[in-house]
Amino acid sequence: MASFNLLLLPGDGVGPEVMAEVERLVDWFNRTGGARFEIERDLVGGSAYDAHGVAITEAAMARAMGADAVLFGAVGGPKWDRVDYDVRPEAGLLRLRKDLELFANLRPAICYGALADSSSLKRELVEGLDLMILRELTGGVYFGEPKEITDIGNNQKRAVDTQVYQTYEIERIARVGFDLAKARRNHVTSMEKRNVMKSGVLWHEVVDAVHKREYPEVELDHMLADAGGMQLVRNPKQFDVIVTDNLFGDMLSDVAAMLTGSLGMLPSASLGAPDDKTGRRKSLYEPVHGTAPDIAGKGIVNPIAMIASFGMALRYSFAMGQAADLVDRAISSVLDDGLRTGDIMSPGCREVGTEEMGRAIVEAMDRLSA
Ligand code: IPM
Ligand code: MN
Repeated sequence: MASFNLLLLPGDGVGPEVMAEVERLVDWFNRTGGARFEIERDLVGGSAYDAHGVAITEAAMARAMGADAVLFGAVGGPKWDRVDYDVRPEAGLLRLRKDLELFANLRPAICYGALADSSSLKRELVEGLDLMILRELTGGVYFGEPKEITDIGNNQKRAVDTQVYQTYEIERIARVGFDLAKARRNHVTSMEKRNVMKSGVLWHEVVDAVHKREYPEVELDHMLADAGGMQLVRNPKQFDVIVTDNLFGDMLSDVAAMLTGSLGMLPSASLGAPDDKTGRRKSLYEPVHGTAPDIAGKGIVNPIAMIASFGMALRYSFAMGQAADLVDRAISSVLDDGLRTGDIMSPGCREVGTEEMGRAIVEAMDRLSA
């Protein structure tokens, strides 16, 4: 039986609560013999800062490097608002992305039929929605240098962030986008701001070149990122795969998330390049929602985004596509049964807490695989 080593980094806020529900699923696979998962755990974010004074320790980084996949909860919260910028909770996540070279961030936005009424858009606009935002994750303004605030006298300061992309960074993310599209509806929309940004001009040019040279059979459109945001809420079902840079991807994926009914529903996968020898990719899976400090510790957070992130790990890291489908079907089935956490609650449904939702999904796995 295939055996994999998972590193769990629950992090802060609701992170540990949603991660506990993933452990329930991991136990299910270990028990039913679908695969053998070995688990390691470590701290990241504010919890790592409280224990060690850094957002992630070298030991945890080494574990992440060695793991077959990292499962990540969420980091940050008001408690750490005043800590030094270099050791703020988010720095742990950014270091993992950068050092593991996780340049491709897949953020699917799927609207389950049962949830179409929780969306802020009309049912007919979102029902059946299935789009993939592919966000470049290791470049652009998140990491460009210089990145600094300098004192320029006269009571004035000057802040700089640098938006920078090189050809190879755009090529490799474009290829991931075209490959994803080929297994879906064969349509890529690339978004940038070439009307104002040089990095947008290059982005557009390089995506076009990769398309002509390597993927002429895939349909490719370009949209300015602001217009793309507008189209996402006007007519989201026109999209299949959206490929965009780090900052636009951050914003557009939050917009897309709300189309599905709740931020509590959105999983994500962050992937590196396949290793030349083993073909194995470094990878990290995390829900798109954050730490939700207002509801942390109450046992009411929606664990579906985290559970679906584990589903993505099955699909993209462990080549267990059927098991991943089973997880998705189990989620659909509990929603069809009318179970809801508070964030997606609607009239006539039954409101449940985090654990009950997790247990119901595992029971649905039993039922659907019997
Ligand atoms: C995300 C988050 C992160 C980001 C933060 C926590 C650094 O918003 O994953 O979308 O901006 O990338
Ligand atoms: Mn974000």
